[in-house]
Amino acid sequence: MIQSPRGTRDFLPDDMERRRFYESILRQTARRSGFREIQTPIFEEAELFVLRSGPNILKELYAFRDKGGRDLALRPEMTAPAIRAFVNGMSNEPKPIKIFYFGQCFRYERPQSGRYREFFQFGAEIIGAATPETDAEMIAMAIMMIEALGLKDYKVRIGHIGILRRKLADAGVTAEKMPEILQKLDKKLYSEAWPLMEDSGVSREDADSIFETSDTAGGVEVLDGIAGDEAQYMIKVLSYLSAIGVAEPEIDLGVVRGLDYYTGIVFEAEAPALGAEKQVCGGGSYALSELFGGEKVFSTGFAIGFDRVLLALENEGAVSPAEKTDAYVVAASGDVKLKAFEIVGMLRRNGLSADIDLADRKMAKAMKHASSVGSRFAVIVGSEELKSGSVMLRDMSSGEQKAIKIADLPAEIRGH
Ligand code: HAM
Repeated sequence: MIQSPRGTRDFLPDDMERRRFYESILRQTARRSGFREIQTPIFEEAELFVLRSGPNILKELYAFRDKGGRDLALRPEMTAPAIRAFVNGMSNEPKPIKIFYFGQCFRYERPQSGRYREFFQFGAEIIGAATPETDAEMIAMAIMMIEALGLKDYKVRIGHIGILRRKLADAGVTAEKMPEILQKLDKKLYSEAWPLMEDSGVSREDADSIFETSDTAGGVEVLDGIAGDEAQYMIKVLSYLSAIGVAEPEIDLGVVRGLDYYTGIVFEAEAPALGAEKQVCGGGSYALSELFGGEKVFSTGFAIGFDRVLLALENEGAVSPAEKTDAYVVAASGDVKLKAFEIVGMLRRNGLSADIDLADRKMAKAMKHASSVGSRFAVIVGSEELKSGSVMLRDMSSGEQKAIKIADLPAEIRGH
């Protein structure tokens, strides 16, 4: 038996109903903050991601050469594609530009619970503003989305990657060596970071101070002891966040983020109950447009790991409403089948969801099917009632039924 490829999943109707329900909450929340949706291709020139992250990224990509000899890759995320789309087609629009996107991403990772090779992100970017207001707007929307979904147990941490970058540069680390060291700091692997830093000429004293910064976390007061403009910038972001009314996030100067394009504010949200793969959202500010051939423009954005946030909601026992069919039309005998088809067509044209037996079942079996598919009503078409232009309408939850004129069916069903 052929299975779906490793790290991918099929979403069956119940799954899709649930996913669409939550997806629409995210869309509404984004629109409410003035964001508009874009869609970019599932695959891009592989170069787009190499420019963003260096050639090492190729190991993590589904990269391939097409029949025309082009090197392509399935997108591992959607920030680089969104900025490419901005450079190609939106750069003359009034800024800041607020966009959002939803779709699948692909990473060649070792699959485990909450980590897939094909997964879905819901993300947003504000392009063309480098202000604390912009960062606050973005963080606030991420938090509002998590709240709108109904997730209860989550934590948001905010950092400023500029602080560690500046301290590393001041201590002698070159731009070239920076990503590798930052990645070790991201995972708090200080004993592995130290030899790399030592190679770059960093003194033990400077290294200890950098490790201390990376371990700095807590309330706004932890910023008191931090020199430089970044801490002042963070305080402004926090004040806008508090004004807009979202829960107070934790400050964590050790937030580095896996992707190495961030330059300013960085933030992450986690659902602790998820265990190893608990990060449900990540984002921050960056400047990528110049790299892709456009003018230099600062942006800030985030992406929610849609699959992970759904797992977290499931763990919390959240239930999404089931979609029911309005009416299931049943022919009581073979001679009224055409009439039953006529009625199902009429109901659908009237904007109701209506279904009908396709398996040539006898009435009792068809009624059973109507109840197992969860229809609100059964419309029983019988030759006797038809003589007076009527059918029987049965409420599937109460079991009550009454004769009703065919012409009155839509209003009657809608009225319930
Ligand atoms: P990221 O942190 O790499 O950031 O991914 C965002 C979210 O996608 C993660 O927090 C996680 O929930 C989810 N995710 C990542 N990999 C997987 C996977 N293999 N399986 C399931 N879920 C996964 C970005 O992608 C940036 N583009 C975010 C951003 C937007 N920054 C600025 N704008």
